[in-house]
Amino acid sequence: MAFKRTLVTSALPYANGPVHIGHLAGVYVPADIYVRYLRLKKQPVMFIGGSDEHGVPITIKARKEGVTPQDIVDRYHTLIKDSFREFGISFDIYSRTTSEQHQKTASDFFKKLYDKNEFITQTSEQYYDEEARQFLADRYIVGECPHCHAQGAYGDQCEKCGTSLSPDELINPQSAISGGKLVKKETKHWYLPLDKHEEWLRKWILEGHKEWRPNVYGQCKSWLDLGLKPRAVSRDLDWGIPLPIEGAEGKVLYVWFDAPIGYISNTQEACAAQPEKYGNWETWWKDPETRLIHFIGKDNIVFHCIVFPAMLKADGSYILPDNVPSNEFLNLEGDKISTSRNWAVWLHEYLRDFPGKQDVLRYVLTANAPETKDNDFTWSDFQARNNNELVAIFGNFINRAMVLTHKYFDSKVPARAALSDYDQATIQEFTDVKARVEDYLNNFRFRDAQKEAMNLARIGNKYLADTEPWKLAKTDMERVGTILHLSMQIAANLSIAFEPFLPFSAEKLRKMLNIDKAAWEELGSIDILPAGHSINTPELLFEKIDDEAIQKQLDRLARIRKENEMKAYKPAAVKALTNIEEFDKADIRVGTVLECQKVKKSDKLLQFRIDDGMGGRTILSGIAQSYPNPEELVGMQILFIANFPPRKMMGIESEGMILSAVNADGKLVLITPSKEVRNGVSVG
Ligand code: 2FM
Ligand code: ZN
Repeated sequence: MAFKRTLVTSALPYANGPVHIGHLAGVYVPADIYVRYLRLKKQPVMFIGGSDEHGVPITIKARKEGVTPQDIVDRYHTLIKDSFREFGISFDIYSRTTSEQHQKTASDFFKKLYDKNEFITQTSEQYYDEEARQFLADRYIVGECPHCHAQGAYGDQCEKCGTSLSPDELINPQSAISGGKLVKKETKHWYLPLDKHEEWLRKWILEGHKEWRPNVYGQCKSWLDLGLKPRAVSRDLDWGIPLPIEGAEGKVLYVWFDAPIGYISNTQEACAAQPEKYGNWETWWKDPETRLIHFIGKDNIVFHCIVFPAMLKADGSYILPDNVPSNEFLNLEGDKISTSRNWAVWLHEYLRDFPGKQDVLRYVLTANAPETKDNDFTWSDFQARNNNELVAIFGNFINRAMVLTHKYFDSKVPARAALSDYDQATIQEFTDVKARVEDYLNNFRFRDAQKEAMNLARIGNKYLADTEPWKLAKTDMERVGTILHLSMQIAANLSIAFEPFLPFSAEKLRKMLNIDKAAWEELGSIDILPAGHSINTPELLFEKIDDEAIQKQLDRLARIRKENEMKAYKPAAVKALTNIEEFDKADIRVGTVLECQKVKKSDKLLQFRIDDGMGGRTILSGIAQSYPNPEELVGMQILFIANFPPRKMMGIESEGMILSAVNADGKLVLITPSKEVRNGVSVG
């Protein structure tokens, strides 16, 4: 079917934290590339974004900070919106699910389905936290894992042994919110009977959308093959959109019911604000000639491919998504990105630390996009792609072509004379780029599309290196003119080809080339810049990123890793001590290290000579791997058990035991008094 317009939505990020590179790589950068491309192709398109401001995590964060949920979402909505704008994500609208428009649209959506009898109700027993006075989602119930007996297992999964759980299986379940005991209470909820939608969903996806990415298609198939069950669309909570029906006091719409409706409300808001630009919102959502594309991350697939389409179908007046290009996950330095563990590169911090370098991150995230499998972001790759690709290939070509034109032709594009066979072959190569970039973009293959655009710069570099115009300058200026004419056309082509990917640099390049705006239809042309066209003084398009800037980021991550290890440490259970005499039995004393060396033929043992205030003693301790330079310990005060029975190891008698603690990295750390004390003094 031919489409007249495209509505592009990007997953609404939760307003309970800033956005990070995982969100950007998974959703916003590809969506933005796609939308910029369609705009360049002059196809009507609308790009919808916004914050997802309901749900339990927001209420929990608010409770922890002693503020209201509205305070939390106000804070993060502003932060997210501003950082997206600065990063060049070109939404037509970025609104929020606490807007009045959304409250009304979501409420009306529910009411229409309710009136059409599209819901069923079920009453079930659920865990209720009497102290917090709320029902708890599985994730907020913690207890002992019935399998590995770890404490702090969640009601949906034990993170220690990985087993999926239900709250009923937990030993001694407690509220993660208040820490209090839980009771079971009956509650009634409204459900969307997905089982009734299964048949058409199967046909629509499994037969009708075989072109969807294999990860998306595969996940849908597994859900459908398992058989769909009714899904609750209401929750017992005081934060959200109240159910607009009688007998549902204290119930709100489940966040995953209202969030996708946010795409509709935000479209309505944009159309109402600029009707001359966007027209009627219903055209975007109800006209079969509109193509609806959802950009999301893989954890959102079921909601966008099964639940939301079932909601739209139940209403009956909406179109369904045409494609749902979902990405896999991006990891950071080998570990899963995690908001709660602060294991992320936050967009607002990146913008602060690398001002003016939006395009470097856009480039790296696309070059490494997790389109078919999870991928890893590393700072060394970030640096290498900037220095070896953006600077050394793209920037270098532009600089060479412009500097030569400046030098030999007074900053005017020279005329082109007869073309050599080599010129013709080069032209052929780069005119093909347009079709290839388009083909990749039409198929949501952003990595490959950007690679093709970069190939144009490689072609330019090779052309200059092979033709060596600087050598011909003494003998054949006409030929030099032709070479630089073509080189400047390649530069102009680059300013168009990179517009969807690197909009800031493409604009900077156009300014340098003295061109107004990118005209996509000119991509591949060798007549973009006429002979005699004046270009501006060349500037550097990209700058090298030095080791210091990268080390700063790595140091930050190392600090966070350490903090997380500290937080994750759960001290062993405290041993019972029935009376003080028991403690007194261990005679702990202070001593000063007089000598310390490795014990020959042992990897583990260090031999200490200690001033114990009683004439001195020798103690062996198995801490050699934690202290590779034992001589450094000389002079240090340590604690030792003085009445430990002497024993012989490696032929040396050890008279006591030195106290140490295990660090997060598994290394042993000696315990030392905070001030100097007399050797031989007892500790107690
Ligand atoms: O996973 C998430 O971050 C959700 N807030 C995405 C919602 S997408 C849409 F439905 F709004
Ligand atoms: Zn477990």
